[in-house]
Amino acid sequence: MPEVSTSLAQAGVVTKAARAQGKRIGFVPTMGALHAGHAALIEAARERCDLVVTSIFVNPLQFGDQSDLERYPRTLDQDLEVAGAAGCDLVVTPEVAELYPTWPEPPSITVTAGPLARRWEGASRPGHFDGVTTVVAKLFGAIGPCLAVFGQKDFQQLAIVTEMVEQLFYDVELLGIPTVREPDGLARSSRNVRLSPQARAAAAAIPQALLAAQASAAQGGGPAALTEAMAEVLAGARSLLVPDYTVVVDRRTLEPLVALGEPNSARLLIAAVVDGVRLIDNAGLAEPLEVPTVPHDRPERMEP
Ligand code: PAF
Repeated sequence: MPEVSTSLAQAGVVTKAARAQGKRIGFVPTMGALHAGHAALIEAARERCDLVVTSIFVNPLQFGDQSDLERYPRTLDQDLEVAGAAGCDLVVTPEVAELYPTWPEPPSITVTAGPLARRWEGASRPGHFDGVTTVVAKLFGAIGPCLAVFGQKDFQQLAIVTEMVEQLFYDVELLGIPTVREPDGLARSSRNVRLSPQARAAAAAIPQALLAAQASAAQGGGPAALTEAMAEVLAGARSLLVPDYTVVVDRRTLEPLVALGEPNSARLLIAAVVDGVRLIDNAGLAEPLEVPTVPHDRPERMEP
C-alpha cells in the first residue's frame, strides 16, 4: 500500500526534498475512482521515476453542474489498492480548504485556459477547463514534479495543460498515455460505473464511431465524410445516446479541419450523453484502436 497524506503541503515537503537529492518525481493527478486507465498512468510514471505521487482530489472548480460533482464516485479504499498495485509510493488526498481556502467563494487567483478551451468540452461545460488549469497549476506548484502523466482520453485537457506548462514556464515534462479500453472498446472512465446495462451497451457505439471514421479516412474520405461516418454510427444508438459533437480537428489547435492534410495532424473527437452520463473519446486517423469490429445498423434515411 502507498503512503497516504491528507496534506498537499506535507507531500510537497517530501517531494521537493527528494527532488533536491536528485530523485526524479513522477506525478499523476486524478479525481479518484481509479481504474485500469489510471493504473496505466501510474505504471508509466513508475517506469520513469524514483518517487511516484498520485493526487486524489475531486476538484469542485471544474464541475459546472453541482449534481455531477455530488454523483462523482468516491472509492478511496479501492483507489489505494489500485495505486499501490500500479507502483505508486505516495497518495495525497487534500481537502478542498487546502486548495481553495475561500471556498465556496471562488479562489482569488485562478488560471484561465484560453482559446484551446473555447470549443468542444469547453463549450459544453463552461468554466470546466479554467477549473482544470487552476487545480493542475496548484498541484504542480505544491508537488514540483519532474514528470506528470495524463491520459490521452481527455485529449483537449492534455492539449490545454501542455500549453499551460509552456506558457507558465513550469519545469515539468508531460507524458500522454493512450486510452485504455474495455473489451468492447469503450474508453475506461470513472463515469462508466454510472451507466445502466442498456446505456453501457449503447455507449459501445462511441468507439465504433471512431473505427468507422478511421475506415472512411483509409478510403480517402475527407473531414465531412469522417464526421458523417461517426454520426451515422452514433445514430444507431440514438434511443439512449445523444451525440454532442463528432468532429475532425487539428490535433494542436483543436480547430475543425476542412481538409485532411498530414494524417498525423488530425484527431477525431466525440462527446455524447448516454442516458444522462457524459462520455468522451478520441483517436488519430490511423492509430490502432483496441476496438473489436462489429457490424452496426445504419439508420434508415428519411425521404425528404
Ligand atoms: O483528468 C482528471 O481527472 C482531472 O481533470 C484532473 C487532471 C485530475 C484535474 O482535476
